[in-house]
Amino acid sequence: GDRPVLSCLTLAAACDGGRVRTVEGGGELLERLRAAFTAEDALQCGFCTPGQLMSALALLERVPQPSREQIVDAMSGNLCRCGAYEGIGRAVARAAEGT
Ligand code: FES
Repeated sequence: GDRPVLSCLTLAAACDGGRVRTVEGGGELLERLRAAFTAEDALQCGFCTPGQLMSALALLERVPQPSREQIVDAMSGNLCRCGAYEGIGRAVARAAEGT
């Protein structure tokens, strides 16, 4: 099934025959997440944002209404050197609410 991976640690050959989605891939849920990240000011430099969005997308596809603990757990592999974690958590919750 679909799962987020670290692109910097994934060999292209390991994806042979598979489907690869990136943050450019679009889709209604990803657009909702983008809007929520903007509304919650969930970034500073934005360096981590593509990865944050893809991890959040994978979470919401699996668990449409995640608890705060599920959000924290699902996003724990994504480091943000700016420390925008509070806003990121709020943005994922906001996207889950459909706003
Ligand atoms: Fe700068 Fe996350 S917004 S690393």
